[in-house]
Amino acid sequence: MIGFMAKPELVASEAVRDEWLRRVQAEYTSAAMTQNFTLWLMQIAASPDLIRSGLRIAWDEMVHARLSHKTYVAAGGNKAPELLRERLALRRNEAEPLEIEVMRVTLNTYCIGETVAVPLFKTLRESCTIPVARRALDRILRDEVRHRAFGWTTLEWLLEGPMAAELRVVAAQALPRFFYKIQMSYGAALKHLATMPAQDRAWGLMPPAEYHAIVERTLTRDWLPRFGAVGIDAQAAWDESRRVAPTG
Ligand SMILES: [Fe+2]
Ligand SMILES: [Fe+2]
Repeated sequence: MIGFMAKPELVASEAVRDEWLRRVQAEYTSAAMTQNFTLWLMQIAASPDLIRSGLRIAWDEMVHARLSHKTYVAAGGNKAPELLRERLALRRNEAEPLEIEVMRVTLNTYCIGETVAVPLFKTLRESCTIPVARRALDRILRDEVRHRAFGWTTLEWLLEGPMAAELRVVAAQALPRFFYKIQMSYGAALKHLATMPAQDRAWGLMPPAEYHAIVERTLTRDWLPRFGAVGIDAQAAWDESRRVAPTG
């Protein structure tokens, strides 16, 4: 653009653009999953309050997508997000009762994913000074606290229901794999990468080592006490997750 020079402190790196575009894609995925999950909650006759929370979360995630895209464009990005259609829905396994699948998604997406999201976004926001990115992280962090609560409320409700005993078995079987996956998706393989240019941090990024450390801290701060409160042994599942084969 003739006559236009971005202020040097606003210049964003390729890493910044890649990350914010990835976030747009991730937010679309979260929105679609939660919308789909809320339908499942309707199908198993969850309370209207829980359904309302689910629908509100689906919309929050679209707002996050919009704010992330705005940040991406401000960072100089101009590509369309690549949305993988098959990932924008929950796949139903008809051989199993729907309650079992609802339990797995509750554990993996909300009790694990949305719970670690709170300290992750809190840390990302601390060094974020570029206004457009900061506004996105402000809103995301505020919402993630409620998304986390939704997961634990849903879990409590499931464990008060008639299938509780069966669902506890599902939790014991599935948690190690879910813990393994969260460690893999947040820095476990790249945890030696601890540095990052200050400019990238100002745009709301952080290096893999910090993601990794936050996932580890979330075990003691959130997963052990919160799962413990409903009688689920998260420590055993975590220890088991360290033995899960890389293909798991
Ligand atoms: Fe989000
Ligand atoms: Fe969320």
